[in-house]
Amino acid sequence: MQKLLIEGKKILTGTINISGSKNASLPILAATIFNKQTELRNVPIVKDIITMVELLKFIGLKCVIFKKKNIIKIFNNTKKVNTIAPYNLVKTMRAGILVLGPLLAKYKKAKVSLPGGCAIGTRPVDLHLLALKKLGAKIKIKNGYIYASASRGLIGTKIRFPKISVGATENAILSSSHAKGTTVLENCAVEPEVLDLVNFLRKLGTKIEIKNRKIIITSNVKDKKIKHNIIFDRIEAGTYLIAGALLGNNFKLKNLDTRMIRNEIDVLKKMGIKMNVAKKFIKIFMSKKIKKINLETKPYPGFPTDLQAQIMILMTQAIGTSKIKENIFENRFMHVPELKRMGAKIEIKNNCAYVTGPSDLTGAEVMATDLRASVSLVLAGLIAENRTSINRIYHLDRGYENIEKKLIRCNANIRRV
Ligand code: EPZ
Repeated sequence: MQKLLIEGKKILTGTINISGSKNASLPILAATIFNKQTELRNVPIVKDIITMVELLKFIGLKCVIFKKKNIIKIFNNTKKVNTIAPYNLVKTMRAGILVLGPLLAKYKKAKVSLPGGCAIGTRPVDLHLLALKKLGAKIKIKNGYIYASASRGLIGTKIRFPKISVGATENAILSSSHAKGTTVLENCAVEPEVLDLVNFLRKLGTKIEIKNRKIIITSNVKDKKIKHNIIFDRIEAGTYLIAGALLGNNFKLKNLDTRMIRNEIDVLKKMGIKMNVAKKFIKIFMSKKIKKINLETKPYPGFPTDLQAQIMILMTQAIGTSKIKENIFENRFMHVPELKRMGAKIEIKNNCAYVTGPSDLTGAEVMATDLRASVSLVLAGLIAENRTSINRIYHLDRGYENIEKKLIRCNANIRRV
């Protein structure tokens, strides 16, 4: 099993090219089931994307990955479709559930493995199923699989989500864009990744209007030959911004749109971090006097749960006690015991973490538990005294493209063994 070895305390200098968004690419890859020929650009070639491509291939689509160019071409010319998402693919990547909507809407039936829980929480899919049932699907759960059918096709309707969910909103948009008539979705997630899916489906002819958290979809999907550029990864950008706040000197991030990460930029400014913010790049400088802050994770445009573990590292260097409340997932503090082993002073009470700083972190042998927890350990390793050795880094490879290469180019001492 591979691990990462980091010798800490190296100043980061240079430019990081932010990759395309994994979480925007996944639902758009699922949407390509609707189309005969699609070319996706700026796709991060990470493990979760490869798993989604494997799933599309299993279904019967032809997919070609151009790794160096970050392009994936997908062709759906097959008459023989396998409307199944098997357990072995969905268990390693929950976003596999996103093929349920397109398969059911286009082929009128689907059998998709229930994803089950994961390290950050129970993560049910009841909201996905609620939307599909309202659109007229019959759903049965048997032997760990969702069996969905709609012999006369899905029919547009009004659906109000009792809770905001990114994946359920995406599955509902996907299935409604191939349903008869108009669908009105209320209390939707409006993350930039959801909006990228909307833009992709608009290119296929679907009429979609968005008013605050209401999304109105009038199905009109047509087979087209289309190209689509995936938006930048705002979580990757946020992660490297935090790295810059900790260790940056003449450290720049490019290939992003700073309008989409206003909240994160404001949080760092409140913590006393100096930045030059342009529309498409940010220069960030490390600060010796970081201010404490109180934060809570919320759906977009709130502070993202996917940056909670990373901002905690900055909190360990702030003066005083910072607080972060995790509102989205019930078990997303798995990085805390590992950070404590490196010398961080963190106390957990219910869904809040209290982080007291500044503390000098020291390198240790630690274990990654999920994608964002892993990268928080990388950030901790970068500022720690001596060597940090991170085990189980396959979690990191699910979502961070070329992480060591990008950091090494900016002077970090990090290697994979
Ligand atoms: C997406 O997951 C992201 N994944 C996650 O990123 C991200 O943490 C999450 O949204 C929140 O922003 C992808 O986009 C592939 P949710 P998703 O449905 O869609 C509950 C990462 O690190 N819920 O918005 O699965 C759920 O348990 C990953 O890149 C239900 O109760 O998240 C949670 O408490 C991790 N029933 C809340 O809603 C449902 O049917 C929000 O989850 C669905 C969700």
